[in-house]
Amino acid sequence: MLPNFVLIGFMGCGKSTVGRKLATLTGHRFLDTDDAIVETRNLSIPDIFSKLGEDGFRDLEQRVIEDLVGVAGIVLSSGGGAILREQNREALKKIGIVMWLDADPDILFERATRTGKRPLLNTPNPRETFDTLLASRRHLYESLADVRFDSTHTEQEDVARKVLEEAMRFRSRRN
Ligand code: S3P
Repeated sequence: MLPNFVLIGFMGCGKSTVGRKLATLTGHRFLDTDDAIVETRNLSIPDIFSKLGEDGFRDLEQRVIEDLVGVAGIVLSSGGGAILREQNREALKKIGIVMWLDADPDILFERATRTGKRPLLNTPNPRETFDTLLASRRHLYESLADVRFDSTHTEQEDVARKVLEEAMRFRSRRN
């Protein structure tokens, strides 16, 4: 039986795209914390931020993550800030092998700002905000991750397969 896979990483690192492909490769069900939050409220992420504030959003995020502890056969893509709360970090570890998708900051920034759907970057100087947030979170991704994968020099279509190989190597080392 394959383990669950949990993707963490900063906005724009490709968690959802890679997660979907990982689900196809493994036969697991793909879940995305942001999608689950949107479903519970029937509101977009920017609307949730503007109605409930970041704390309200984080409460919904925590509930979604904690509800997944004990569920088998999933690939979970977590929001970039899901690692901020200790309770979430503990739950993510329990859910599955935690894989940090990383990439060059310029690439992350370009991807993260492409859609305009990331409320935390809706500031007068998005690049400065991005750099500050990334610097404040890197150590959390690093300390939580079982596996880190830097996709900067990997073709997009190869990332999921390589991430899966890394995860399976991690599992055989651990067992
Ligand atoms: C956030 C990242 C977003 C989303 C929300 C907050 C963050 O998810 O959860 O806008 O705090 O980094 P993605 O990482 O999928 O963009």
